[in-house]
Amino acid sequence: MPQDPSAALASLDILSEATSDEVAVLASLMSIETVPAGFELSRQGDKGDRFWGVIAGTLEVTVSKAMGERRIAVASQGAILGELSLLRDAPRSATIRTLQDCVLASGGPGALEVLIEIESARQRIQALASRRLAEDCRPIRVTLRDGQSALLRPLLPSDRANLTYAIRNLSAESLRRRFFSPTPPSQKLIDYLVDIDFVDHFAWVAIDSTTGAGMATARYVRTAVRGQAEIAFTTTDGNQGRGLGTVLLGAIGVAAEQGGVDRLIAHVLDDNAAMRAVFAKAGGETSREEPGVVSVSIESVKAASLLEPAIRREVADSVHDIVTAASLALVDSAGSTTRELAP
Ligand SMILES: CC(C)(COP(=O)(O)OP(=O)(O)OC[C@H]1O[C@@H](n2cnc3c(N)ncnc32)[C@H](O)[C@@H]1OP(=O)(O)O)[C@@H](O)C(=O)NCCC(=O)NCCS
Repeated sequence: MPQDPSAALASLDILSEATSDEVAVLASLMSIETVPAGFELSRQGDKGDRFWGVIAGTLEVTVSKAMGERRIAVASQGAILGELSLLRDAPRSATIRTLQDCVLASGGPGALEVLIEIESARQRIQALASRRLAEDCRPIRVTLRDGQSALLRPLLPSDRANLTYAIRNLSAESLRRRFFSPTPPSQKLIDYLVDIDFVDHFAWVAIDSTTGAGMATARYVRTAVRGQAEIAFTTTDGNQGRGLGTVLLGAIGVAAEQGGVDRLIAHVLDDNAAMRAVFAKAGGETSREEPGVVSVSIESVKAASLLEPAIRREVADSVHDIVTAASLALVDSAGSTTRELAP
């Protein structure tokens, strides 16, 4: 077990690409502690003033809700814990307890600031923060045209099997309209559609509030042009025409606004009247791209205005920290992300 703080920190995966000088600066701001099994490092609801890197041992992460305490994760060597409440200046969202004797690297806000100055570490912290926030996001209830409701939440890694099933069960016509080919996409493409980072690639899923089945997805992927992203939508065949595409365009517009994307671009088959009808509601401007395909350009703010004001506010509040990785990610002039600590 490494005793030297720099050697201990260097064993963390998050620092695998850091230089020895970067690790040494960080080591001067962090302490290496041995913590006995059964120790509560942080309690849900408390103010957070430290984060930890797990050098050895395992810990559990639990959340308490009305139904009681539930374990949401077990963390082991290499994990980073407790960073979210520091980044957001918010109370702890979970309780962290050691399951074994653990060796931990522990640091405060200054150490976290130095950690995210290290480019490769920042990207990982950003991805971690966004994923944890997305997993924690409370679904938003929206009403469909027929009066039924659906729940809207970010697409999560745990949706992989359901999304794969839904895509493989799309009709040939829906596949043609979405992927420009009537054959189901490869597993590689499906993986790409699920493995999102929430900052450069964000997606919503709409869930049937009664059955829990997936009904529709919508996503944006930033392009190399600053403030611009490409969008794509899919509603399962049985749910088309119920207003989901329109609500999702609104929700994508809100997420894009929050993430600093002000223009949305879509590539649509000429004969895709349903998609073009939805885009037209948000003032989409159409231009010819290639034979059979049009490009539609929509202002994020106009897309967002498709939502009722109260829902629009709820969506904005729930998505802001996710698409900015708790304000860690800002978009620079080249369109890639740069960091800024939450105030
Ligand atoms: C395009 C798509 C996402 C729209 O989603 P949706 O949930 O059906 O959208 P909505 O119910 O909100 O709206 C559909 C609109 O299209 C209109 N529409 C449907 N078929 C139409 C047609 N043939 N001609 C004109 N308008 C049509 C509907 O009337 C409705 O407009 P309205 O709200 O003014 O009545 C969905 O049809 C789909 O997944 N299609 C297959 C995949 C695809 O085309 N993806 C887009 C690739 S960019």
